[in-house]
Amino acid sequence: MQMAMQSQVIKLFMPAMIRTEAAPRNLFRYRRRRPVRILYLMKTNMKTANRKTNQKRNPAREKEARPDSLQPRIEPTTLWDFPAQNYGGRRQGDTAYTGATPSHILWNLLQRYTEPDELVVDPMAGSGTTLDVARELGRRALGYDVNPTREDIFHVDSRKLPLESGKAAFVFVDPPYSTHVAYSDDPRCIGKLDAAEPEYYEAMDRVIGEIHRVLAPGRHMALYVSDSFVKGKGFYPIGFELFSLLRKRFVPIDIISVVRRNRTLTMGNYRKAAEEGGFFLRGFNYLFIMRKPLPPSAAGAAPSSKRRGGKPRR
Ligand SMILES: C[S@@+](CC[C@H](N)C(=O)[O-])C[C@H]1O[C@@H](n2cnc3c(N)ncnc32)[C@H](O)[C@@H]1O
Repeated sequence: MQMAMQSQVIKLFMPAMIRTEAAPRNLFRYRRRRPVRILYLMKTNMKTANRKTNQKRNPAREKEARPDSLQPRIEPTTLWDFPAQNYGGRRQGDTAYTGATPSHILWNLLQRYTEPDELVVDPMAGSGTTLDVARELGRRALGYDVNPTREDIFHVDSRKLPLESGKAAFVFVDPPYSTHVAYSDDPRCIGKLDAAEPEYYEAMDRVIGEIHRVLAPGRHMALYVSDSFVKGKGFYPIGFELFSLLRKRFVPIDIISVVRRNRTLTMGNYRKAAEEGGFFLRGFNYLFIMRKPLPPSAAGAAPSSKRRGGKPRR
């Protein structure tokens, strides 16, 4: 019995012993030679355990410490999953707009890659999520769309932006993913082009070309997109295709996977169709983060800390 207890004690404190002493070649010899140390470790550990379990609970303090799930926070990993479309109990963009971007995404990107007063551009602004988040954070913002939903969005085809080259500090774009949503009757809407056809990628290549032109060298852009599966037609890896278009002009910084919270993903008939039909429902969107390279003449010079990006800014 006593032997069993002793070996339990040794098992429990072996890591601590190894940390404090050179690892014993023979554990039992070590135990016999240094019993005082083992007892000391056992005593202090029990004290700590008691302190933890006996702590008085303070519900008010616990509530304060609990993160409010609606508050935005810097995402440290490449997997983002947001509890709601908007943060802070406020409205950014319009949740009723089909295809509106979750505002947590913009908040994270702008915190990391921009400074107050800098210019943020969205060439496919939709309901204006980018503009609202940018202005909340004290950035300047310009939005364009062929179907402007509000007065501060310019009626423009993003294949030709009315903006001087190199003016934007950050560009965000969430384009149509093939023909799933009828955004407007405007024939220039890229949502009328099927991702099964080369025209969709040609159009997106021109949009990406304009994003590259208006972005200042050394600064960042992000493109948010989903792949597409059409029953009876097949799977279109739009993410990979657009990423290869981005790579022609930009340096990849990272790829984030954003969990889609679409209602259809939880609906029994959709899930059953996917199971029985041998296909998958789209569970995530890609968020590609890219940087515009510096011109060759400036490439040797180290970019300023402001230009390096990646560090959360308040
Ligand atoms: C996914 S939505 C953008 C959603 C937006 N980020 C938001 O949070 O509301 C895509 C947008 O691209 C716009 N669009 C499609 N083709 C366009 C084009 N050629 N030029 C500008 N905007 C275009 C559509 O009108 C639509 O508003």
